[in-house]
Amino acid sequence: MATRNIVKIGDSILNKKSRPVEKFDARLHQLLDDMRETMYQAEGVGLAAVQVGVLRRVVVMDCSQDKTDYLELINPEITETEGEQREQEGCLSLPGESGITLRPAVVRVKAQDRDGNWCLYKGEGLKARCFCHEIDHLDGILFTEREIPYTEGLENSVSE
Ligand code: NI
Repeated sequence: MATRNIVKIGDSILNKKSRPVEKFDARLHQLLDDMRETMYQAEGVGLAAVQVGVLRRVVVMDCSQDKTDYLELINPEITETEGEQREQEGCLSLPGESGITLRPAVVRVKAQDRDGNWCLYKGEGLKARCFCHEIDHLDGILFTEREIPYTEGLENSVSE
Protein backbone atom coordinates (compact mmCIF):
# COMPACT_ATOMS: atom_id res chain seq x y z
CA MET A 1 0.00 0.00 0.00
CA ALA A 2 1.00 3.56 -0.55
CA THR A 3 -0.55 6.94 -0.08
CA ARG A 4 -1.37 8.97 -3.16
CA ASN A 5 -1.40 12.74 -3.61
CA ILE A 6 -4.80 14.35 -3.08
CA VAL A 7 -5.88 16.59 -5.97
CA LYS A 8 -6.72 20.10 -4.78
CA ILE A 9 -9.19 22.72 -5.97
CA GLY A 10 -7.99 24.43 -9.13
CA ASP A 11 -7.33 21.13 -10.90
CA SER A 12 -10.07 20.71 -13.52
CA ILE A 13 -10.16 16.93 -13.06
CA LEU A 14 -12.35 17.56 -10.00
CA ASN A 15 -15.10 18.82 -12.33
CA LYS A 16 -15.06 15.76 -14.57
CA LYS A 17 -17.46 12.83 -14.50
CA SER A 18 -15.95 9.49 -13.52
CA ARG A 19 -16.50 6.35 -15.61
CA PRO A 20 -17.95 3.08 -14.27
CA VAL A 21 -15.59 0.33 -13.14
CA GLU A 22 -15.79 -2.72 -15.38
CA LYS A 23 -12.80 -4.80 -14.27
CA PHE A 24 -12.65 -5.98 -10.65
CA ASP A 25 -8.98 -6.84 -10.86
CA ALA A 26 -5.72 -6.43 -8.98
CA ARG A 27 -5.35 -2.89 -10.26
CA LEU A 28 -8.68 -1.91 -8.69
CA HIS A 29 -7.68 -3.57 -5.44
CA GLN A 30 -4.41 -1.63 -5.40
CA LEU A 31 -6.32 1.61 -5.99
CA LEU A 32 -8.71 0.80 -3.12
CA ASP A 33 -5.88 -0.09 -0.74
CA ASP A 34 -4.04 3.12 -1.58
CA MET A 35 -7.21 5.21 -1.23
CA ARG A 36 -7.89 3.68 2.19
CA GLU A 37 -4.41 4.57 3.43
CA THR A 38 -4.60 8.04 1.88
CA MET A 39 -7.99 8.77 3.49
CA TYR A 40 -6.89 7.66 6.96
CA GLN A 41 -3.60 9.52 6.75
CA ALA A 42 -5.44 12.70 5.75
CA GLU A 43 -7.97 12.14 8.57
CA GLY A 44 -10.89 12.33 6.16
CA VAL A 45 -14.14 10.39 6.39
CA GLY A 46 -14.38 9.73 2.67
CA LEU A 47 -12.37 9.85 -0.54
CA ALA A 48 -13.36 9.47 -4.19
CA ALA A 49 -10.96 8.12 -6.82
CA VAL A 50 -11.04 11.38 -8.75
CA GLN A 51 -9.40 12.98 -5.70
CA VAL A 52 -6.31 10.86 -6.37
CA GLY A 53 -6.51 11.58 -10.09
CA VAL A 54 -8.39 8.45 -11.23
CA LEU A 55 -11.66 9.05 -13.12
CA ARG A 56 -13.38 5.85 -12.04
CA ARG A 57 -16.52 5.44 -9.92
CA VAL A 58 -14.76 4.33 -6.74
CA VAL A 59 -15.25 5.62 -3.18
CA VAL A 60 -13.84 4.72 0.23
CA MET A 61 -15.46 5.93 3.45
CA ASP A 62 -15.30 5.59 7.21
CA CYS A 63 -17.56 7.84 9.25
CA SER A 64 -16.79 6.15 12.58
CA GLN A 65 -14.57 7.63 15.29
CA ASP A 66 -12.43 4.50 15.58
CA LYS A 67 -11.97 3.11 12.04
CA THR A 68 -14.68 0.46 12.48
CA ASP A 69 -16.98 1.40 9.59
CA TYR A 70 -14.70 1.19 6.57
CA LEU A 71 -16.62 0.88 3.28
CA GLU A 72 -15.61 0.44 -0.34
CA LEU A 73 -18.20 1.56 -2.89
CA ILE A 74 -17.75 0.70 -6.56
CA ASN A 75 -20.23 2.17 -9.05
CA PRO A 76 -22.43 3.50 -6.19
CA GLU A 77 -25.94 4.81 -6.78
CA ILE A 78 -28.35 6.48 -4.38
CA THR A 79 -31.59 4.49 -4.43
CA GLU A 80 -33.66 6.32 -1.82
CA THR A 81 -33.51 9.41 0.40
CA GLU A 82 -35.59 10.66 3.33
CA GLY A 83 -35.82 13.99 5.11
CA GLU A 84 -33.18 16.69 5.13
CA GLN A 85 -30.29 18.02 7.21
CA ARG A 86 -28.31 21.21 7.23
CA GLU A 87 -24.77 20.68 8.54
CA GLN A 88 -21.23 21.84 8.04
CA GLU A 89 -19.23 20.08 5.35
CA GLY A 90 -15.63 20.14 4.17
CA CYS A 91 -13.50 18.34 1.61
CA LEU A 92 -9.93 17.04 1.48
CA SER A 93 -9.63 18.72 -1.94
CA LEU A 94 -10.59 22.12 -0.49
CA PRO A 95 -8.32 22.39 2.56
CA GLY A 96 -9.43 24.91 5.14
CA GLU A 97 -12.81 25.51 3.52
CA SER A 98 -16.18 24.54 4.92
CA GLY A 99 -19.78 25.45 4.40
CA ILE A 100 -23.33 24.49 5.26
CA THR A 101 -25.05 22.16 2.82
CA LEU A 102 -28.56 20.83 2.48
CA ARG A 103 -28.51 17.02 2.28
CA PRO A 104 -31.01 14.21 2.89
CA ALA A 105 -31.18 12.95 6.51
CA VAL A 106 -31.23 9.29 5.45
CA VAL A 107 -29.67 7.85 2.30
CA ARG A 108 -29.80 4.34 0.87
CA VAL A 109 -27.10 3.31 -1.59
CA LYS A 110 -26.40 0.30 -3.75
CA ALA A 111 -22.83 -0.34 -4.77
CA GLN A 112 -20.50 -3.13 -5.82
CA ASP A 113 -17.72 -4.41 -3.58
CA ARG A 114 -14.14 -4.99 -4.75
CA ASP A 115 -15.16 -8.35 -6.24
CA GLY A 116 -18.18 -6.98 -8.11
CA ASN A 117 -20.94 -8.15 -5.75
CA TRP A 118 -23.82 -5.72 -5.30
CA CYS A 119 -24.45 -4.62 -1.70
CA LEU A 120 -26.95 -2.31 -0.02
CA TYR A 121 -26.10 0.38 2.52
CA LYS A 122 -28.02 2.84 4.66
CA GLY A 123 -26.63 5.97 6.26
CA GLU A 124 -28.03 8.61 8.58
CA GLY A 125 -26.50 11.90 9.71
CA LEU A 126 -22.81 12.19 8.82
CA LYS A 127 -22.85 8.91 6.89
CA ALA A 128 -25.78 10.08 4.76
CA ARG A 129 -23.95 13.32 4.02
CA CYS A 130 -20.79 11.42 3.16
CA PHE A 131 -22.60 9.12 0.70
CA CYS A 132 -23.98 12.20 -1.08
CA HIS A 133 -20.69 14.12 -0.97
CA GLU A 134 -18.62 11.25 -2.39
CA ILE A 135 -21.12 10.29 -5.09
CA ASP A 136 -21.24 13.96 -6.09
CA HIS A 137 -17.45 13.79 -6.59
CA LEU A 138 -18.01 11.00 -9.13
CA ASP A 139 -20.19 13.40 -11.10
CA GLY A 140 -17.71 16.27 -10.86
CA ILE A 141 -19.68 18.15 -8.21
CA LEU A 142 -18.05 19.78 -5.16
CA PHE A 143 -19.85 20.59 -1.90
CA THR A 144 -19.52 24.30 -2.63
CA GLU A 145 -22.18 23.82 -5.32
CA ARG A 146 -24.55 22.56 -2.59
CA GLU A 147 -23.88 25.35 -0.11
CA ILE A 148 -26.72 27.21 1.54
CA PRO A 149 -26.55 30.32 3.76
CA TYR A 150 -25.20 29.82 7.28
CA THR A 151 -27.75 29.06 9.98
CA GLU A 152 -27.28 28.94 13.75
CA GLY A 153 -26.62 25.86 15.84
CA LEU A 154 -24.25 23.87 13.66
CA GLU A 155 -21.31 22.14 15.27
CA ASN A 156 -19.93 19.21 13.32
CA SER A 157 -17.09 19.75 10.92
CA VAL A 158 -15.45 17.00 8.91
CA SER A 159 -13.39 16.60 5.77
CA GLU A 160 -14.89 14.32 3.16
NI1 NI B 1 -14.70 15.77 -0.87
